[in-house]
Amino acid sequence: MSTTSEIVDFQDQTLSMLNLDAGHAAIVGLQWGDEGKGKIVDLLTKKYDYVVRYNGGANAGHTVVVGDQKYALHLIPSGILYPDKINILGNGVVIDPEVVIREMDGLVKRDVKMDENFQISNRAHIVFPYHKLQDQLMEQAVGQLRGDGKKVGTTGRGIGPCYADKAQRTTAIRMGELLNAESFKEKLTYIIKLKDIELKGLAECCGEDYTPLDFDTIYKDYLGYADRLRKHVVDSAQTLHRAMNEGKQLLFEGANATLLDIDHGTYPYVTSSNCSALGIPAGTGTPGAAVKHIIGILKAYQTRVGGGPMPTELKNEIGEKIREQGHEFGTTTGRPRRCGWLDLMTVKYSAQLNGTTALSVMLLDVLGGFDSLKICTGYKVNGVQVDCFPADAADLEAAEPIYTELPGFTESIDDVAAITSYNDLPENAKNYIQFIEDYMGIPVKIVSVGPARSQTLIK
Ligand code: GDP
Ligand code: IMO
Ligand code: MG
Repeated sequence: MSTTSEIVDFQDQTLSMLNLDAGHAAIVGLQWGDEGKGKIVDLLTKKYDYVVRYNGGANAGHTVVVGDQKYALHLIPSGILYPDKINILGNGVVIDPEVVIREMDGLVKRDVKMDENFQISNRAHIVFPYHKLQDQLMEQAVGQLRGDGKKVGTTGRGIGPCYADKAQRTTAIRMGELLNAESFKEKLTYIIKLKDIELKGLAECCGEDYTPLDFDTIYKDYLGYADRLRKHVVDSAQTLHRAMNEGKQLLFEGANATLLDIDHGTYPYVTSSNCSALGIPAGTGTPGAAVKHIIGILKAYQTRVGGGPMPTELKNEIGEKIREQGHEFGTTTGRPRRCGWLDLMTVKYSAQLNGTTALSVMLLDVLGGFDSLKICTGYKVNGVQVDCFPADAADLEAAEPIYTELPGFTESIDDVAAITSYNDLPENAKNYIQFIEDYMGIPVKIVSVGPARSQTLIK
């Protein structure tokens, strides 16, 4: 195990090699999530003053590994392990208070500071138990009614219904409102009546019995959460503007990923927020032009959890080998992730949307031991090569990948994971990275060969 001072030295060295000049930065996933955003946010936090989540909720699962310690974070930003940095959940995040409090308690038990260094926007919307129930029943009902097995395959964390209430307005409750017991009570009283009507119908459709929501329990539980979270609730947009005026450096942490973006992802198989960098201004209250560095995070291959098209999916022993070598099981739901060859058609589309300035290629070690590797560089839809990423899920479903085959690197996963400098990577691994860089026209700055901070190579 590395000692703390070794880690700090390594990190300083890595950050200075990375040569990211001053300016706010964002970490954004370029695929369907789980690219390793948490690892890079943790690594870069040292250089920044604030780490800010702008979208999503407890559907995210970000893993941070420090020495022999592993942290699985769902809502709390991945910069939380640095006591001198401020971590913020912006207004675009949907907060499940029970999950946040459990996560806070778990971190405090592990000696992580959880004080004024953790702040939640008073404009962030709140997830209630009825959102989670609606999420689960809706998936079940749609599955049953369609009868073709096509579902979004949500995480069941109430994300879609909470954002739907935000858009509906009269049935939504924000963090700031939760702190006022009287007006919260007034609102919750009629919301629960409306939710009972809605949920009873959904439950009937699924052939399930329905137990009406228990106002007293929900009200009491949420008042308790309000008391616990009160001191963390702030007007975070103001905090961030003050910070920017003082010359502080911000790091925005994307959750979920660009292909799951509600507007630009593979709709309807997406989540319910703007997870691309386009979500930063709206989800934090900071101007988009303020973000200078947009670091796009991609896996060296492709994964997806849940439903929806995935042109390069490998439902064979190669896909299984990737899943096994990459431990590709969801951090949030434990579901096996669907695995396939790297799809640069999707990654280029995502990179363009985000205004990506640099790339970080993750989990390269997982491709150790393959004789040859394929990379998708285009699609044919109904026999015709397309020149842009299809907007329609049916077209993407019909897309046949066009592959370029590259020689693999036969060094084992452990051998690759032990490499400490980019130049020492096997020639074929460097060729693979160079291919990505050339196709994308964006520099690959980071190559990751393992979950630890020290398994990070600067190109
Ligand atoms: P996120 O949602 O984008 O933060 O990614 P997740 O944490 O859900 O999934 C990425 C997984 O890969 C985590 O278990 C990380 O610890 C792990 N990981 C990150 N980088 C690497 C790497 O370079 N190699 C390997 N083998 N694992 C990695
Ligand atoms: P991180 O931040 C992978 C997927 C779900 C489902 C779809 C909609 O760890 O990369 P939702 O519960 O959001 O309504 O589900 O989006 N999904 C993710 N997949 N990583 C994530 O987050 C995800 N967040 C949502 O599997 O297909
Ligand atoms: Mg994840």
